[in-house]
Amino acid sequence: MKNMLTAGTLMLICLLLSALAGCMVEDAVSYSRDVKPIIQKNCISCHEQGGAGYEASGFSMETYDDLMKGTNFGPMVIPGDSEGSNMVVLMEGRADPSISMPHGGMDPVRKQDIDTLRRWIDQGAKKN
Ligand code: HEC
Repeated sequence: MKNMLTAGTLMLICLLLSALAGCMVEDAVSYSRDVKPIIQKNCISCHEQGGAGYEASGFSMETYDDLMKGTNFGPMVIPGDSEGSNMVVLMEGRADPSISMPHGGMDPVRKQDIDTLRRWIDQGAKKN
């Protein structure tokens, strides 16, 4: 009886651990795999050398380092703080509508993509 209990307990611990590990793998957002494609699709056309957004604000998103540097006036991504990161603020239209991003008549960024960016920032905006 005592042995069975131990085996059962062990099995339960294993199940819990593997579930936990599974979640962690699923939740880790990668810059190169997840974040970059979203930027390429929605932002890069204006935010690279020669683009309108880059010319106006100095904000390039071509590389990770460019992205983290932000505009001429400071960072747009604050690691660990998606709520306070201007990049997200503008995409969610929380600032003045005239500067919501992407600019002009483009479609807004899909909600699930904004969520991905948010999670990446909250996980420390790592170069992963
Ligand atoms: C069609 C062009 C265009 C696209 C696409 C675009 N931007 Fe911009 N962006 C601009 C322009 C132009 C500015 C300069 C500010 C202004 O004039 O409104 C700017 C400025 C910014 C700024 C700086 C705002 C400030 O406070 O100075 C951020 C942050 C930004 N864009 C983020 C993004 C993000 C994130 C995306 C993709 C989701 C994006 N932009 C897509 C044109 C664009």
